[in-house]
Amino acid sequence: MLNAQQLQQFEQEGWLYFPEAFTAEEVAVLRNEAEGIYAVDRPEVWREKSGAPRTAFAAHLYNEAFGILGRHPRLIRPVEQIFGEQLYMHQYKINAKAAFTGDVWQWHQDYGTWLRDDGMPEPRAMNIAVFMDEVMPINGPLMLIPRSQHQGNLAAAHDTSTTSYPLWTINDDVVTKLVQEGGIVSPTGKAGGVLMFHGNLVHGSAPNITPYPRKIVYLTLNAVSNHIRKPTRAEWIAHTDFTPIVPCDDGALLDYARRYKQAAE
Ligand code: SIN
Ligand code: MN
Repeated sequence: MLNAQQLQQFEQEGWLYFPEAFTAEEVAVLRNEAEGIYAVDRPEVWREKSGAPRTAFAAHLYNEAFGILGRHPRLIRPVEQIFGEQLYMHQYKINAKAAFTGDVWQWHQDYGTWLRDDGMPEPRAMNIAVFMDEVMPINGPLMLIPRSQHQGNLAAAHDTSTTSYPLWTINDDVVTKLVQEGGIVSPTGKAGGVLMFHGNLVHGSAPNITPYPRKIVYLTLNAVSNHIRKPTRAEWIAHTDFTPIVPCDDGALLDYARRYKQAAE
């Protein structure tokens, strides 16, 4: 459960970071599975212009370990608490930000896309990020503009050319003004850290030119009553199964990791 101080920070600043929410053993198995997923050519795996993996969608639907993560109470419960109702999975992605080749995510608000492309009524969906690798100041961490969520939905332009991923991006003048007011934070830390942020919080990330990969899994959890009304994207990008998520046991990922290790021995 989030305490009063955490709820207040989320309300004011628009983000919360939980270092070491998952153990090294829990994360190791996911990291390994992610590499296997990126190695396969399938429509859900998008690549950078260089061919390096950029993002893998919907792995919770075809991979057991990522399925468990998608129902994990350490991720589901705090978001249920904030929205005061059950959740379904709007989007699920494993972003690679590969060593040397991981490309930029321009400044944007997630709700900008959920509204314009998916017909989501309100910004009552949350991105909750699980660090698969250590996220450092140097390997393309997520950069957030604190308090920018209070601006509501900002004007945005559809960038379909800069990267392999179309994004509704926010112009430099608006970003400059928001940064003058709120600054920029980039929560960093070991694999297993969890970062959640408001759907209207402006964020982006720089390319990764280091030898250190920066994989992050993002669950986009939407309040069931706020389900999308006008889907235009593929089902595996913006889901239309609005079934409420039933959280698994807290130990489910660790159990899976141990079974997996035994099977490998
Ligand atoms: C996103 O904003 O959706 C992804 C950004 C990142 O993984 O760096
Ligand atoms: Mn985003």
